[in-house]
Amino acid sequence: MNANLDSPVQKENNTGKVIVGFNDKPFDIFLLKLDNLHLVGRKTPARINIADEKSRRKSCLVEPDMLFGKLIKFAELTEGYEIIYQKLPDEVIQDKFALISPLDELIYPLKRLIDGQEVAQPEEYWNNCATDVSLLDDDEIFLREMTGNILMEYLVPGSIVYDPACSTGAFLAHLKKISPEICTVGQDLNPNMIAIAKERVDKVCAGNSLIPVCSEKSVDVVICRHLNLDVVTSEVAKELFLAAAESLKIGGVMVVIGHTPILITSAWMEEQGFNVLRRNCVTPYAHAVFQLYLFIKKS
Ligand SMILES: C[S@@+](CC[C@H](N)C(=O)[O-])C[C@H]1O[C@@H](n2cnc3c(N)ncnc32)[C@H](O)[C@@H]1O
Repeated sequence: MNANLDSPVQKENNTGKVIVGFNDKPFDIFLLKLDNLHLVGRKTPARINIADEKSRRKSCLVEPDMLFGKLIKFAELTEGYEIIYQKLPDEVIQDKFALISPLDELIYPLKRLIDGQEVAQPEEYWNNCATDVSLLDDDEIFLREMTGNILMEYLVPGSIVYDPACSTGAFLAHLKKISPEICTVGQDLNPNMIAIAKERVDKVCAGNSLIPVCSEKSVDVVICRHLNLDVVTSEVAKELFLAAAESLKIGGVMVVIGHTPILITSAWMEEQGFNVLRRNCVTPYAHAVFQLYLFIKKS
Protein backbone atom coordinates (compact mmCIF):
# COMPACT_ATOMS: atom_id res chain seq x y z
CA MET A 1 0.00 0.00 0.00
CA ASN A 2 1.26 3.47 -0.82
CA ALA A 3 1.88 6.09 1.82
CA ASN A 4 -0.82 8.68 2.02
CA LEU A 5 1.27 11.67 2.97
CA ASP A 6 -1.34 14.40 2.97
CA SER A 7 -4.49 13.15 4.53
CA PRO A 8 -5.22 15.28 7.56
CA VAL A 9 -7.66 13.41 9.80
CA GLN A 10 -8.81 16.38 11.80
CA LYS A 11 -7.90 19.55 9.98
CA GLU A 12 -9.65 21.66 12.58
CA ASN A 13 -7.33 20.61 15.39
CA ASN A 14 -4.31 20.63 13.15
CA THR A 15 -3.41 16.95 13.18
CA GLY A 16 -2.28 14.92 10.19
CA LYS A 17 -2.07 11.21 9.48
CA VAL A 18 0.28 9.15 7.34
CA ILE A 19 -0.08 5.46 6.55
CA VAL A 20 3.20 3.89 5.45
CA GLY A 21 2.77 0.47 3.84
CA PHE A 22 5.09 -2.34 4.92
CA ASN A 23 6.59 -2.31 1.40
CA ASP A 24 6.70 1.47 1.13
CA LYS A 25 10.20 1.99 2.57
CA PRO A 26 9.10 2.33 6.20
CA PHE A 27 12.82 2.54 7.07
CA ASP A 28 12.80 6.12 5.72
CA ILE A 29 10.58 7.24 8.63
CA PHE A 30 12.65 9.03 11.26
CA LEU A 31 12.20 10.58 14.67
CA LEU A 32 14.15 13.65 15.68
CA LYS A 33 14.24 13.50 19.48
CA LEU A 34 14.79 16.98 20.89
CA ASP A 35 14.64 17.28 24.69
CA ASN A 36 10.92 16.77 25.43
CA LEU A 37 9.74 16.95 21.81
CA HIS A 38 9.68 14.12 19.24
CA LEU A 39 9.37 15.30 15.64
CA VAL A 40 8.51 12.76 12.95
CA GLY A 41 9.33 12.84 9.26
CA ARG A 42 10.28 10.86 6.20
CA LYS A 43 13.65 10.88 4.48
CA THR A 44 13.69 12.03 0.85
CA PRO A 45 16.58 13.24 -1.35
CA ALA A 46 18.57 16.04 0.31
CA ARG A 47 21.03 18.60 -1.03
CA ILE A 48 24.51 17.17 -0.56
CA ASN A 49 25.73 20.66 -1.45
CA ILE A 50 23.44 23.39 -0.08
CA ALA A 51 24.03 25.64 -3.10
CA ASP A 52 23.26 23.00 -5.70
CA GLU A 53 19.71 21.67 -6.24
CA LYS A 54 21.13 19.10 -8.65
CA SER A 55 23.11 17.57 -5.78
CA ARG A 56 19.89 16.25 -4.23
CA ARG A 57 19.98 12.54 -3.48
CA LYS A 58 19.05 10.09 -0.80
CA SER A 59 21.84 10.05 1.77
CA CYS A 60 22.13 10.22 5.54
CA LEU A 61 21.11 13.90 5.45
CA VAL A 62 17.78 15.05 6.88
CA GLU A 63 16.49 18.54 6.00
CA PRO A 64 13.72 20.40 7.89
CA ASP A 65 11.22 20.15 5.02
CA MET A 66 11.19 16.36 5.50
CA LEU A 67 9.48 16.75 8.88
CA PHE A 68 5.71 16.17 9.16
CA GLY A 69 5.38 17.63 12.66
CA LYS A 70 5.22 16.58 16.31
CA LEU A 71 4.59 12.86 16.85
CA ILE A 72 1.27 12.16 18.58
CA LYS A 73 0.72 8.47 17.93
CA PHE A 74 2.38 5.59 16.18
CA ALA A 75 0.61 2.25 15.59
CA GLU A 76 1.07 -0.89 13.52
CA LEU A 77 -2.07 -1.74 11.52
CA THR A 78 -2.80 -4.63 9.15
CA GLU A 79 -2.04 -2.43 6.11
CA GLY A 80 1.07 -0.70 7.44
CA TYR A 81 2.20 1.81 10.04
CA GLU A 82 -0.04 4.67 11.12
CA ILE A 83 1.60 7.91 12.18
CA ILE A 84 -0.49 10.71 13.67
CA TYR A 85 1.22 14.04 14.15
CA GLN A 86 0.54 17.63 15.05
CA LYS A 87 1.32 19.96 12.18
CA LEU A 88 3.73 22.73 13.01
CA PRO A 89 4.22 25.99 11.10
CA ASP A 90 7.35 26.00 8.91
CA GLU A 91 8.95 28.71 11.02
CA VAL A 92 8.50 26.60 14.19
CA ILE A 93 10.13 23.63 12.45
CA GLN A 94 13.00 25.85 11.27
CA ASP A 95 13.44 27.19 14.82
CA LYS A 96 13.51 23.70 16.33
CA PHE A 97 16.01 22.63 13.69
CA ALA A 98 18.26 25.59 14.41
CA LEU A 99 18.37 24.56 18.08
CA ILE A 100 19.47 20.94 17.56
CA SER A 101 22.15 20.16 20.12
CA PRO A 102 24.87 17.48 19.76
CA LEU A 103 23.10 15.14 22.21
CA ASP A 104 19.75 15.18 20.41
CA GLU A 105 19.09 11.96 18.53
CA LEU A 106 17.89 11.10 15.06
CA ILE A 107 16.52 7.56 14.91
CA TYR A 108 14.99 5.35 12.26
CA PRO A 109 12.68 3.03 14.19
CA LEU A 110 11.48 0.84 11.28
CA LYS A 111 13.52 -1.80 9.49
CA ARG A 112 13.55 -3.23 5.97
CA LEU A 113 11.33 -6.35 6.23
CA ILE A 114 10.61 -9.05 3.69
CA ASP A 115 7.84 -11.45 4.77
CA GLY A 116 8.18 -10.05 8.29
CA GLN A 117 11.93 -10.78 8.46
CA GLU A 118 14.61 -8.11 8.67
CA VAL A 119 17.00 -8.37 5.70
CA ALA A 120 20.37 -7.01 4.59
CA GLN A 121 22.14 -7.08 1.22
CA PRO A 122 23.90 -10.40 0.48
CA GLU A 123 27.70 -10.39 0.77
CA GLU A 124 28.05 -10.58 -3.04
CA TYR A 125 26.29 -7.20 -3.36
CA TRP A 126 29.56 -5.49 -2.39
CA ASN A 127 31.42 -7.24 -5.26
CA ASN A 128 29.44 -5.17 -7.74
CA CYS A 129 29.97 -1.98 -5.72
CA ALA A 130 33.72 -2.54 -5.73
CA THR A 131 33.70 -2.23 -9.52
CA ASP A 132 32.49 1.38 -9.31
CA VAL A 133 34.64 2.80 -6.57
CA SER A 134 34.00 6.44 -7.40
CA LEU A 135 30.22 6.08 -6.98
CA LEU A 136 30.71 4.55 -3.56
CA ASP A 137 33.37 7.03 -2.45
CA ASP A 138 31.86 10.24 -3.83
CA ASP A 139 28.58 9.79 -1.95
CA GLU A 140 30.43 10.05 1.34
CA ILE A 141 32.71 13.05 0.71
CA PHE A 142 30.86 15.31 3.16
CA LEU A 143 30.56 12.48 5.70
CA ARG A 144 34.33 11.96 5.63
CA GLU A 145 35.08 15.67 5.85
CA MET A 146 32.73 16.43 8.72
CA THR A 147 33.64 13.32 10.70
CA GLY A 148 37.32 14.08 10.10
CA ASN A 149 36.88 17.61 11.51
CA ILE A 150 35.16 16.27 14.62
CA LEU A 151 37.81 13.57 15.10
CA MET A 152 40.79 15.85 14.52
CA GLU A 153 41.53 16.32 18.24
CA TYR A 154 41.77 12.54 18.73
CA LEU A 155 43.98 11.83 15.69
CA VAL A 156 47.30 12.39 17.44
CA PRO A 157 50.63 11.06 16.10
CA GLY A 158 50.87 7.31 16.64
CA SER A 159 47.11 6.79 17.12
CA ILE A 160 45.83 3.50 15.76
CA VAL A 161 42.62 4.09 13.79
CA TYR A 162 40.62 0.98 12.84
CA ASP A 163 37.74 0.67 10.35
CA PRO A 164 36.25 -2.85 10.73
CA ALA A 165 34.40 -2.63 7.37
CA CYS A 166 36.73 -0.33 5.46
CA SER A 167 35.39 -1.13 1.96
CA THR A 168 37.55 0.91 -0.49
CA GLY A 169 39.58 2.48 2.33
CA ALA A 170 38.53 6.02 1.32
CA PHE A 171 37.47 6.92 4.85
CA LEU A 172 40.76 5.87 6.47
CA ALA A 173 42.71 7.51 3.64
CA HIS A 174 40.95 10.81 4.37
CA LEU A 175 41.83 10.59 8.08
CA LYS A 176 45.46 9.82 7.16
CA LYS A 177 45.49 12.84 4.85
CA ILE A 178 44.40 15.22 7.61
CA SER A 179 46.62 13.58 10.24
CA PRO A 180 49.53 11.85 8.46
CA GLU A 181 51.13 10.40 11.58
CA ILE A 182 48.28 8.08 12.54
CA CYS A 183 48.38 4.36 11.66
CA THR A 184 45.31 3.21 9.72
CA VAL A 185 44.03 -0.37 9.90
CA GLY A 186 41.20 -1.64 7.68
CA GLN A 187 39.32 -4.93 7.59
CA ASP A 188 36.61 -6.03 5.17
CA LEU A 189 34.74 -9.19 4.38
CA ASN A 190 35.06 -8.57 0.66
CA PRO A 191 38.44 -9.37 -0.95
CA ASN A 192 37.70 -7.04 -3.91
CA MET A 193 37.29 -4.14 -1.49
CA ILE A 194 40.48 -5.10 0.32
CA ALA A 195 42.38 -5.16 -2.99
CA ILE A 196 41.41 -1.49 -3.49
CA ALA A 197 41.91 -0.49 0.14
CA LYS A 198 45.44 -1.84 0.31
CA GLU A 199 46.61 0.98 -1.96
CA ARG A 200 45.32 3.58 0.53
CA VAL A 201 45.49 2.08 4.03
CA ASP A 202 48.57 1.27 6.16
CA LYS A 203 47.44 -2.24 7.14
CA VAL A 204 44.53 -4.18 5.65
CA CYS A 205 43.04 -7.59 6.27
CA ALA A 206 40.29 -9.56 4.51
CA GLY A 207 37.92 -11.16 6.99
CA ASN A 208 34.79 -10.89 9.05
CA SER A 209 35.22 -8.23 11.72
CA LEU A 210 33.15 -10.29 14.14
CA ILE A 211 36.74 -11.43 14.74
CA PRO A 212 38.62 -8.11 14.70
CA VAL A 213 42.06 -8.02 13.12
CA CYS A 214 43.18 -5.69 15.95
CA SER A 215 43.84 -7.28 19.32
CA GLU A 216 41.87 -6.46 22.46
CA LYS A 217 42.29 -2.89 23.82
CA SER A 218 44.89 -1.96 21.18
CA VAL A 219 43.06 0.71 19.17
CA ASP A 220 42.67 4.47 19.83
CA VAL A 221 39.84 5.24 17.40
CA VAL A 222 37.29 2.86 15.83
CA ILE A 223 35.13 4.02 12.92
CA CYS A 224 31.97 1.92 12.52
CA ARG A 225 30.30 2.50 9.15
CA HIS A 226 28.77 -0.94 8.88
CA LEU A 227 26.06 -1.04 11.58
CA ASN A 228 23.58 0.22 9.02
CA LEU A 229 20.46 -0.75 7.14
CA ASP A 230 21.25 -2.89 4.08
CA VAL A 231 24.78 -3.64 5.29
CA VAL A 232 23.74 -5.97 8.16
CA THR A 233 20.68 -6.80 10.28
CA SER A 234 20.07 -5.28 13.74
CA GLU A 235 21.19 -8.41 15.56
CA VAL A 236 24.42 -8.64 13.57
CA ALA A 237 24.95 -4.88 14.08
CA LYS A 238 24.97 -5.45 17.86
CA GLU A 239 27.47 -8.32 17.55
CA LEU A 240 29.73 -6.23 15.30
CA PHE A 241 29.55 -3.26 17.68
CA LEU A 242 30.62 -5.46 20.61
CA ALA A 243 33.47 -7.00 18.59
CA ALA A 244 34.72 -3.54 17.51
CA ALA A 245 34.41 -2.27 21.09
CA GLU A 246 36.71 -5.04 22.34
CA SER A 247 39.54 -3.80 20.15
CA LEU A 248 39.28 -0.29 21.66
CA LYS A 249 41.49 0.92 24.54
CA ILE A 250 39.77 2.24 27.68
CA GLY A 251 39.41 5.97 26.95
CA GLY A 252 39.42 5.27 23.20
CA VAL A 253 36.96 6.84 20.77
CA MET A 254 34.16 5.03 18.93
CA VAL A 255 32.43 6.72 15.98
CA VAL A 256 29.25 5.28 14.44
CA ILE A 257 28.08 6.79 11.14
CA GLY A 258 26.82 5.66 7.75
CA HIS A 259 25.11 6.35 4.49
CA THR A 260 21.97 4.40 5.47
CA PRO A 261 20.19 4.41 8.88
CA ILE A 262 22.09 3.12 11.91
CA LEU A 263 20.31 0.07 13.27
CA ILE A 264 21.13 0.36 16.98
CA THR A 265 20.23 3.12 19.39
CA SER A 266 22.45 5.35 21.49
CA ALA A 267 20.87 3.94 24.68
CA TRP A 268 21.96 0.41 23.76
CA MET A 269 25.47 1.50 22.76
CA GLU A 270 25.91 3.52 25.97
CA GLU A 271 24.87 0.47 28.01
CA GLN A 272 27.84 -1.41 26.55
CA GLY A 273 30.26 0.73 28.59
CA PHE A 274 30.44 4.03 26.69
CA ASN A 275 29.96 7.70 27.52
CA VAL A 276 28.24 9.56 24.71
CA LEU A 277 29.71 12.89 23.51
CA ARG A 278 27.40 13.44 20.54
CA ARG A 279 24.58 11.73 18.66
CA ASN A 280 24.29 13.86 15.54
CA CYS A 281 26.09 16.35 13.39
CA VAL A 282 24.63 19.43 11.73
CA THR A 283 26.06 20.50 8.35
CA PRO A 284 28.14 23.74 8.22
CA TYR A 285 25.28 25.96 7.00
CA ALA A 286 22.81 24.11 9.26
CA HIS A 287 20.71 22.99 6.28
CA ALA A 288 20.69 19.34 7.37
CA VAL A 289 21.45 16.93 10.20
CA PHE A 290 22.71 13.33 10.16
CA GLN A 291 23.44 10.52 12.60
CA LEU A 292 26.95 10.69 14.04
CA TYR A 293 27.60 8.99 17.37
CA LEU A 294 30.79 9.75 19.22
CA PHE A 295 31.52 7.67 22.32
CA ILE A 296 34.39 7.29 24.77
CA LYS A 297 34.97 3.79 26.12
CA LYS A 298 34.79 3.86 29.90
CA SER A 299 35.10 0.14 30.79
C1 LIG B 1 31.03 -0.05 5.30
S1 LIG B 1 29.74 -0.39 4.31
C2 LIG B 1 29.98 0.67 2.92
C3 LIG B 1 29.84 2.10 3.26
C4 LIG B 1 30.21 3.05 2.17
N1 LIG B 1 29.12 3.23 1.24
C5 LIG B 1 31.53 2.79 1.52
O1 LIG B 1 31.66 1.85 0.76
O2 LIG B 1 32.48 3.50 1.77
C6 LIG B 1 29.87 -1.84 3.46
C7 LIG B 1 31.11 -2.69 3.62
O3 LIG B 1 30.97 -3.46 4.79
C8 LIG B 1 31.55 -4.71 4.55
N2 LIG B 1 31.08 -5.63 5.57
C9 LIG B 1 29.82 -5.99 5.86
N3 LIG B 1 29.79 -6.85 6.89
C10 LIG B 1 31.08 -7.03 7.28
C11 LIG B 1 31.69 -7.79 8.29
N4 LIG B 1 30.98 -8.58 9.10
N5 LIG B 1 33.04 -7.73 8.43
C12 LIG B 1 33.77 -6.96 7.60
N6 LIG B 1 33.23 -6.23 6.60
C13 LIG B 1 31.91 -6.25 6.45
C14 LIG B 1 31.12 -5.04 3.12
O4 LIG B 1 31.94 -6.04 2.53
C15 LIG B 1 31.29 -3.67 2.46
O5 LIG B 1 32.54 -3.50 1.87
